[in-house]
Amino acid sequence: MRETEIRRLLITGARGFLAQHIRPRLRAAFPGATLIPVGRAEADLRDPAQARRLLAEAAPDTVVHLAALSGGILDNRERPADYLYDNLAINTHVFEECRRAGVKKLLTLMGGCSYPAAARSPIAETEMWNGYPQPESAGYSMAKRMLLVQSWAYRRQHGFNSVVLIPGNVYGENDNFNLRQSHVIPAMIRKFVEAAERGDEEVVFWGTGRPTRDFVYAGDVGALIPWFLANYDSSEPVNLSTGFPVSIRELAETVARLTGYAGRIRWDPTQPDGQMIKIFDPGRLRALGLSCPTPLEEGLRRTIAWFRAARARGEVRL
Ligand SMILES: NC(=O)c1ccc[n+]([C@@H]2O[C@H](COP(=O)([O-])OP(=O)(O)OC[C@H]3O[C@@H](n4cnc5c(N)ncnc54)[C@H](OP(=O)(O)O)[C@@H]3O)[C@@H](O)[C@H]2O)c1
Repeated sequence: MRETEIRRLLITGARGFLAQHIRPRLRAAFPGATLIPVGRAEADLRDPAQARRLLAEAAPDTVVHLAALSGGILDNRERPADYLYDNLAINTHVFEECRRAGVKKLLTLMGGCSYPAAARSPIAETEMWNGYPQPESAGYSMAKRMLLVQSWAYRRQHGFNSVVLIPGNVYGENDNFNLRQSHVIPAMIRKFVEAAERGDEEVVFWGTGRPTRDFVYAGDVGALIPWFLANYDSSEPVNLSTGFPVSIRELAETVARLTGYAGRIRWDPTQPDGQMIKIFDPGRLRALGLSCPTPLEEGLRRTIAWFRAARARGEVRL
C-alpha cells in the first residue's frame, strides 16, 4: 500500500499505551491522511453492531487495530475468561467488519507471551505453534494467537490484507504503572521512585534476579508502524525486539541507579523466577533492514522522567 493511498486511518485502542507512541508517527508519516482515533467510549468492539457502526461511520481505508483487553500476570490469573472472551470477540468483529467495509489494510499487534512457554530463545516467529503458552496468561495469549489464523484465513478467502506484528517486552512513557496490571519495568520504576521518596532501606523483588529478557522501547515500536503500513503485505508475523539480553538483576540495578534509590535490593528466591531466558529473535526484522535501536538505559531515562512528571500532573495509570 503506497503512502498516498492512505487517506482515512482508523486507530482503535487509541487512548492506550502504545497508541501514544504510534499516533504521532502516523501523523508525521501520512500528513495527507485523516486520523480517526477511537476508544471503547466510541465503540465497544466486543459488540458486532457497534463494530459495524464504527466502520460505517469512519469509512477508513486503513486500520491500525490496538484495542485489546491487556494486563499483567495477576489480573490474567484472576480473569482468564475475560481475557479470552474480550480479545476473541474484539478481533473477530474487527476482522469481519473491516473486510465487509472494504478496508484495504489492517495492521495489528500481538504479544510475545503468545509464544509457547517452552520455546527456545532467541524465539523466532516460526516457533509460535510448537507448544502451549504460559498457562497463567493462556486466555489472553491464545486469543491473540488467533490473529495469525485470522490474518491468513481472511487473506486466503477474501484477499484481505492484514499484518500482525509481535512487539516483545515493551516499555516506555504512558505505560500502566498499576502494580496489579503492570509489566516488570513500570513496576520496578514505581517501586524504586516511591522507595527513594520514602527513604526505604530495602526493596524486595521476587525470584533470584537471574532470568534474562530483552526489552523494546515503545517509541521504537511506534517508529516502525508506518513502514509496515506502507511496505509490508504479508500474514507472516514479525518480531519487534532488540534480541539483546538483560538479566532482571541488572535491570533492577540500572533502574535503581537512574531513579536515585540508594538502599538495598533483596531477592526473594522462595518466589518463582518464571522462564529463565526469554529473548525474541529480531532476525526477520533485520532482514527487512529495520531495528529497534534505542538503548535500554536511554529508554529507561525517558520513561522515569515521564513517570515523575506525569504523576505530578495526576496522569499516570496507578
Ligand atoms: N504493552 C505491551 O507490552 C504489548 C506488547 C505486545 C503487544 N501489545 C498489544 O498492543 C496493543 C495495544 O496495547 P497497549 O499496551 O497499548 O494496551 P492498552 O494500554 O491496554 O490499550 C488498549 C486499549 O484498548 C481499548 N479497549 C479495551 N477493550 C475494548 C473494547 N471492548 N472495545 C474497544 N476498545 C477496547 C482500551 O480503550 P479505552 O481506554 O477507551 O477503554 C485501551 O485503551 C494490544 O493489542 C496489545 O495486545 C502490547
